[in-house]
Amino acid sequence: MLANKTFYLFIYGCQMNEHDAERIVGLLETYGAMRVDSVEAAEIVVFVTCCVREAADIRLMGQAASIKNIPLPADSTLNKRIVAVGGCIGQRDGLELLEKLDNVDVVFGTHTIDQLPGLLIKAASDHSRSVSLLEESAGFASDLPSHRKHTWAAWLPITTGCDNFCTYCIVPYVRGREKSRTLEDVLDEASLLVSEGVKEITLLGQNVNSYGRDLYGSPQFAKVLKGVCDTGVDRVRFATSHPKDLTDEVIALFGTEANLMPYLHLPAQSGSNRILREMNRRYTREAYLDLVRKVRQANPDISLSTDIIVGFPGETEEDFQQTYNLVKEVGYSQVFTFIYSKREGTPAAEMPDDTPREVIQDRFDRLVALVQENAYQQNQRFVGRWLDVLVEGPSKRDPRVFTGHSPHNVTVHAKVPSGVALEDIVGTMVQVRIDEAKTWYLTGEVVGE
Ligand code: 5AD
Ligand code: SF4
Repeated sequence: MLANKTFYLFIYGCQMNEHDAERIVGLLETYGAMRVDSVEAAEIVVFVTCCVREAADIRLMGQAASIKNIPLPADSTLNKRIVAVGGCIGQRDGLELLEKLDNVDVVFGTHTIDQLPGLLIKAASDHSRSVSLLEESAGFASDLPSHRKHTWAAWLPITTGCDNFCTYCIVPYVRGREKSRTLEDVLDEASLLVSEGVKEITLLGQNVNSYGRDLYGSPQFAKVLKGVCDTGVDRVRFATSHPKDLTDEVIALFGTEANLMPYLHLPAQSGSNRILREMNRRYTREAYLDLVRKVRQANPDISLSTDIIVGFPGETEEDFQQTYNLVKEVGYSQVFTFIYSKREGTPAAEMPDDTPREVIQDRFDRLVALVQENAYQQNQRFVGRWLDVLVEGPSKRDPRVFTGHSPHNVTVHAKVPSGVALEDIVGTMVQVRIDEAKTWYLTGEVVGE
């Protein structure tokens, strides 16, 4: 029933959603469905959604409504395009979504991806609308087929859910309690990926540092990280780390494991101790800075990135200054900046919040200017260096130039060497001598040219 049906995927949100999307593609392809790259060409549309900030909710409503007016492909045997909504909004809203969006046929949650083909088949055959949700996952869907976007890079989820309950965050309510995969299961999958030719593995979890607490009584992230490094894969990365759980053992690996990439995403959220307390982050500004010092001691060349929320309820100019100074002091290579978004059901949604919108916007703009300045300065240290670049494909602007990422996770552009076909180097590691550093990318020449 799904054989030769065409499908299009909208993917919003985090890396976990990217990974879920790869599983959805893999699953639908095993049923003979074909992925297409436009809604116009698709008989089935699947939304993988996010609800961390309100903007993502608004985007789903807009996109889902706007596809109503797009006609089905002329050769379709269906009499209506089938629309499915999954991911975090599916999990959070369930049945309500069928009421809010009259063209949605299927709602599935974060734990019921495996049910999607069956629900789509049902919708196609009897036009019924259905919802499939589970409160908690029975385990990991590691046996579901996955269609990796790139054959050379893979996500490897090691935990799902989150037990931290930061007061602004909806994730623990939607994704549920933290659950870890067994060490054996993770290492088996890592070895399998390496045998398939994967060059870069990114371990995923809402808080990878507490990996294993539910299974083994204490966090075992250092063990799983070391195990994955020991597979000999070229590159290992991980996201996301909660500062309160980053151990000395994990930090030490940045100094000893050559294939653990010199890049750490360590969300600070705020630089004000008062706000950190209100956020229930359970670390202080001083403890955070101490971690940064230790990480840089383990590997002085490491690049750091972070997440910052501007405009948390009750944030004063003084609190903001603390955040601004923290960002300046650390010298991040990348900062993901977010304006606080009220999420119903979270403790912060109940906190008095009377800072005018323009004041918050002004703080946000000042922070963004600093972030850009930092990124530019951080990138200058690469000029004149030779960096390993994992080639991903042509750059958007020029087909003779390829794009890839450096070990520090910076985008690199360089000319495809003469006499070399780009297809032949995609997915391989090349050495690039960096000639110029901009704010968001580096350019250079392939060594030997
Ligand atoms: N408002 C704004 N940003 C948020 N984040 C999480 N919840 C909210 C919210 N309610 C940000 C945090 C987190 C990142 C993934 O999203 O900075 O680290
Ligand atoms: Fe949300 Fe905090 Fe858990 Fe991150 S650690 S997912 S911000 S509750």
